[in-house]
Amino acid sequence: MIVLGIESSCDETGVALVQAAGSGTPTLLAQALHTQIDMHQAYGGVVPELASRDHIRRVVPLVRQVATAAAVDLGRVDVVAYTQGPGLAGALLVGAGVAQALAAALGRPALGVHHLEGHLLSPFLSADPPQFPFVALLVSGGHTQLMRVDDVARYELLGETIDDAAGEAFDKSAKLMGLGYPGGPALARLAEFGDAGAFDLPRPLLHSGNLDFSFAGLKTAVRTQVGKLGTNVCQQDLANLAAATQQAIVDVLVRKSIAALRQTGLKRLVVAGGVGANTRLRERLNDECARRGARVHYPELALCTDNGAMIALAASLRLQRGVAMPSRDADFGVRPRWPLAEVGLTGSRASSRLPAAS
Ligand code: KG4
Ligand code: ZN
Repeated sequence: MIVLGIESSCDETGVALVQAAGSGTPTLLAQALHTQIDMHQAYGGVVPELASRDHIRRVVPLVRQVATAAAVDLGRVDVVAYTQGPGLAGALLVGAGVAQALAAALGRPALGVHHLEGHLLSPFLSADPPQFPFVALLVSGGHTQLMRVDDVARYELLGETIDDAAGEAFDKSAKLMGLGYPGGPALARLAEFGDAGAFDLPRPLLHSGNLDFSFAGLKTAVRTQVGKLGTNVCQQDLANLAAATQQAIVDVLVRKSIAALRQTGLKRLVVAGGVGANTRLRERLNDECARRGARVHYPELALCTDNGAMIALAASLRLQRGVAMPSRDADFGVRPRWPLAEVGLTGSRASSRLPAAS
C-alpha cells in the first residue's frame, strides 16, 4: 500500500510518500517540504491568508517532486491522505481540495488525518521506533499535552496546558526579546550563550500535583524582565534571559513527563511536535529517563515540525488497523478545531477525552 500525505495546516506545505507492507511498520519513500517562514517573518507571525495562497502555489509541484524522488508513478498511489484539522481553515482547505481532486483523478480514496495524531505517531518513522503503550509529550506551537497511548487511535489525555502552549511560550518570549519568528529556534540559539541562573523565572503549576501546564505567567514574567532591561539591553543580558526562559519551560516539561511515567507505570516516553526539536529538552529528558530506567523516543529531527510524512504515516497505520476505507465521494469538510477524541477506530467519540485543539 502506497499512501501520499499532504500537510497544509499552518505555515509549512509538506508532501510525502509512505509505503506499508502487511502489518509491518510503514517506511518513508520520499518527502518534500516548503516552509513559509521567510514570507511571514516580516509580520512577526503567520498571516493566514498569505499562508493559504502560498500552499496553493507549492502543493502540486511538491507532489511531483516526491513522486520523482521516490520513482513512484502517481498511478500507484493507493490512498491520498491530507490534514483535515486542526489548523487554519483556509490553509487546510487547500490541502483537502488538492487531495480530493487528486484522489478523484486517480480513482482512489482520500483520507482526512488529524494533525496531532500525525505528530504523535511520527517517531514510528525513526530508526528507533517505540512500542505501545507509551506516554506521549506533545509539544507544538498550539498544544502541550501529555497522553497515554495504548495503540493507534487509543489515546487518553493525562494533562494539558490551561493557557499558552510550550511553543507559544517560546514564541511569545522570543518576540518580547525582539528575536523574530519563529521564536523557538531563535531563542534556543541565543540561550546557548546565556546563564540560566541569571534570572529567576516562575515555573507555573510545577507542584500542582496534576499533569496540567500553564505558561502564560512565564510570558508575563519575561515581559517584566524585558521592561527592566530597557532599550539599551546588552546581548549578554538577553542571552541570559533566553537561557532562563528555556530552562523554565524545559524544567516544567521534564518534571511533568516524569510524573506521567510514574503515574501510568510506563517506561516509554515519546516526544513529538516542534518543541521536541529543542536540544536542551532532549538532553534533560534523556538524562532523567535514563536515571529511571525509562526510554525516550523522538521523531527524526526533520519530522519534529510539521511535515507530510507524519500525515501519510498516520493514515497508513490507521488503515493497517482496519479503519474503514473512506468514501470516494469528495468531502471538502475541514476541521479547524477538532478534538483528537473523535479519531477513534470506529470514528465515534470513543475512549479519550481530549479537548478541542486550537
Ligand atoms: O509542531 P510545529 O511545527 O507546528 C505546530 O503544529 O504548531 O511546532 C512549532 C513550534 C513553534 O512554537 C516553534 O517555535 C517551536 O515549535 N520550535 C522550537 C524549536 N523548534 C521549533 N521550540 C524550541 N526549540 C526549538 N529548537
Ligand atoms: Zn504541528
